[in-house]
Amino acid sequence: MTSSEIRQSFLDFFKSKEHAIVPSVSLLPDSPNLLFTNAGMNQFVPYFLGEREAYHQRLANTQKCIRAGGKHNDLEDVGFDTYHHTFFEMLGNWSFNDYFKKEAISWAWELLTEVWGFPKERLYATVYKPGAGDPAEFDQEASDCWSEIFIAEGMDPKVHLIHGGKKDNFWMMGETGPCGPCSEIHMDLTEKGDTRGSLVNSESPLCIEIWNLVFIQLIAADDGSYRPLPSRHVDTGMGFERVAGIIASTKNFTDFSRPPSNYESDLFKTIFGSLAEMCGQSYGGTVPKNRQKLSDEEKRDCSFRVLADHIRTLCCAIADGILPGNEGRNYVLRRILRRAVLWGRRLDLAPGSFSRLVDSVLDTLGPVFPELGEQQDVIRKVILAEESAFDRTIDRGLQVIDKITTKNKGGIGGKDAFLLYDTYGFPLDLTQVVARERNMKVDTEGFNKEMEKQRKRARAARKKDVIAVSDGGTGVVATQFVGYGSDALKNLETEVREVIQSNDRTYLVFPESPFYAERGGQVGDTGEVVLEGRRIQIMDRIMRDNACIRLKSIPWKTSRGKRPR
Ligand code: SER
Repeated sequence: MTSSEIRQSFLDFFKSKEHAIVPSVSLLPDSPNLLFTNAGMNQFVPYFLGEREAYHQRLANTQKCIRAGGKHNDLEDVGFDTYHHTFFEMLGNWSFNDYFKKEAISWAWELLTEVWGFPKERLYATVYKPGAGDPAEFDQEASDCWSEIFIAEGMDPKVHLIHGGKKDNFWMMGETGPCGPCSEIHMDLTEKGDTRGSLVNSESPLCIEIWNLVFIQLIAADDGSYRPLPSRHVDTGMGFERVAGIIASTKNFTDFSRPPSNYESDLFKTIFGSLAEMCGQSYGGTVPKNRQKLSDEEKRDCSFRVLADHIRTLCCAIADGILPGNEGRNYVLRRILRRAVLWGRRLDLAPGSFSRLVDSVLDTLGPVFPELGEQQDVIRKVILAEESAFDRTIDRGLQVIDKITTKNKGGIGGKDAFLLYDTYGFPLDLTQVVARERNMKVDTEGFNKEMEKQRKRARAARKKDVIAVSDGGTGVVATQFVGYGSDALKNLETEVREVIQSNDRTYLVFPESPFYAERGGQVGDTGEVVLEGRRIQIMDRIMRDNACIRLKSIPWKTSRGKRPR
């Protein structure tokens, strides 16, 4: 089966079980505490919480996900193994207050073993059993469902059913929110397939999780407590690249002589083909035994994997409007791109090569995610510009690292790491990648101190009016930014809490505002406010830690203008 056939067959299977098929949502999440969409269930949180009613109680899709920089962060493993990615597709099926554990488990088994032909004796199911201090109860219901299946198949549940605590068998999107026990399906990929579950959850590449069935039944609150949700839901997530990799590497489960790899599937083969053409080397499939000391072959193969993974991430993020930049998720993207450029140097790729991989991503993912084709010009331009900017400083930066590490065997000090960051554009984690290979450490604390000093210098250098917002003796309340939803961008009605006159400028303080504040290199929004019938131009919005004590209430309407670039 090709990767497209696998994806389609997943969707068809759940369609036959009365699921509506929905498109992937954007990688830019709605949730303020997420950097990127990191799971298929992100978009369904309001359904789980009962805040919004699902228009269909059963849904399935393939969801674009990025796991880098947040709670679920796989960036450090990418390239060094064959099954972690920064960008991946998650195939999922959902039930909102409809079917629950029995159906979710038996359909997962049916699809894997009957439709796709996974060898049953190589599969293991894990079930939640809380350890000391873990929330909730032993998941008896899931355990019974799996036992019934294994017994019917003539398999021993004592071997194929494995218990796990909160770390492995309790799924949370973040520290708070809807969550619940989960039951994962793992596959033994050893040559003989006879490890009897001993490798499950042991970080072995020869036994990996392929599908996670989450039973959403609780909500985690800020205070660390877990309360039952009013109704129960199913959230499953299958690692599409893993399944496609296993099917391709084992030639439809007929050959387990080599360890399977996600990069064997056609999803990556096309990208590898372009890379091989550019660098004149071929991918050899080696995986480092020791991440601190890579052989030449291992370095080459890690580079192929890093570049292929990262170009998919960059293309899909940019297509969804997330561009490389200096802050937050944008900086995560910049770091990923710079990692790719660094690894590209190890293949002796010419400057600008990374952006030339865009076409191979369009070939493989374009038919599934139309936004890639629609945004292809932007994707190419942004990647080339970012890459060229780093191309200008990376070689000099690498020479500086050589000098530092030759002189100082103890590692890279905070000041040097900061110099690399500030002058040569090396994000801290990139310096760490290079240092680790030389068996050296980077003084991150010293780096952070230098960073803080620079922030202070920058603040002092900025000539500004000094504005004091009265606190009225009642404490301080920050202005709430409400400009994410398109509804709030026009005609928001609120009140002015304080008017401050400073030199020739007037500052208005509002309890909430759709104007994005100037910060972190992002200029503030401009726009218009209607105040007692008069139209007033807002020239900028600035941020103050303290704000918003009511002086007088004046009704006003806002309309945010175009954000200047
Ligand atoms: N939310 C679960 C996960 O991301 C299953 O979809 O693994």
